[in-house]
Amino acid sequence: MDLVQLTRDLEDLRAEALGQVAVAPDSAALEELEIEVLGKKGRLTGVLRGIGALAAEDRPRVGAVANTVRQTIEAALRERGAALRNSELEARLRLERVDVTTPGRPVRRGSLHPSIEAMGDIARIFAQFGFVVHESPEVEDDRTNFQMLNIPPDHPARDLWDTLYVDVPGHLLRTHTSPGQIRVMQAMRPPIRALLPGRCFRYEAVDASHGFEFFQVEGLMVDEGTTLGDLKGLLDQFAHAMFGARKRTRFRPGYYPFTEPSVAFDVECLVCGGSGCPACGRSGWMTILGAGMVHPVVLQYGGLDPERYQGFAFGMGPERISMLKHGITDLRLFMENDLRFLEQFR
Ligand code: DAH
Repeated sequence: MDLVQLTRDLEDLRAEALGQVAVAPDSAALEELEIEVLGKKGRLTGVLRGIGALAAEDRPRVGAVANTVRQTIEAALRERGAALRNSELEARLRLERVDVTTPGRPVRRGSLHPSIEAMGDIARIFAQFGFVVHESPEVEDDRTNFQMLNIPPDHPARDLWDTLYVDVPGHLLRTHTSPGQIRVMQAMRPPIRALLPGRCFRYEAVDASHGFEFFQVEGLMVDEGTTLGDLKGLLDQFAHAMFGARKRTRFRPGYYPFTEPSVAFDVECLVCGGSGCPACGRSGWMTILGAGMVHPVVLQYGGLDPERYQGFAFGMGPERISMLKHGITDLRLFMENDLRFLEQFR
């Protein structure tokens, strides 16, 4: 190995490396190339291994050549590297560009379930008369659901409420919201103006007008000197706010064990306006709730003296109210939760 040969090898290496740098396709290939040529075990080191065989005075000269070769290759790597990184960045920016003119993804708007919507409407109307919403349990005891509402264990009136029992003795799923009357009376002193919305359950064959699960809204007012006339005036206001200011209403005699007297409250048929049609059974009227003056026995169970206090109560089905308002003919729609039905209430 002599000086001339080694110098030529170095120059060959430079020429070859510069050629490879010029055609490196991307920065990863360029990095590999750098290691292969200039790395610790690279080709340049390989060539310089021959330096040991040279005369001592030749070594620095080869060293000087080797340095310029290395610097030239390094400069080429830097330059090509910068160019490659630039075009790679541009390619990425092109590829990952965000089109700010693309329309946004639509946000799906939900809506209140029609039963909930109806209960909200009812609560807002009665709130204007000072009625406050209370809650009462869905799993109730027999005493509160029946006995304290003046329905003794073997009384035939129990037939009005086909009951779902739970396997805790003496307990059941409330068949109506009326037991909430007892709980409110036991919890507070008159004047009482309470509204009790909630879910009710009955052992019922399901059809277009019967469900085993449905909502009710109960109302209770107790004070000194409360009269049936107060009840009638309040329900008129309610019917007018709910169905329209000019709708006619009427009281009919009814029967409930926990009220005396008891009434059914009708509003003129919303379909025919009172002349009689299939929707109202040709009567011209639609029944929207049951009501009456709270029975003295019920007041007593509530811990109130019936000689001093009088009260009225009413109970209605928000689904029925919603059906009348929207012309819905099948109660089952309220529990099926089919979006094609629910989405119509937005
Ligand atoms: N609880 C009765 C039912 O489920 C509805 C009802 C009627 C409630 C008359 C009352 C009332 O408060 O006075 O059929």
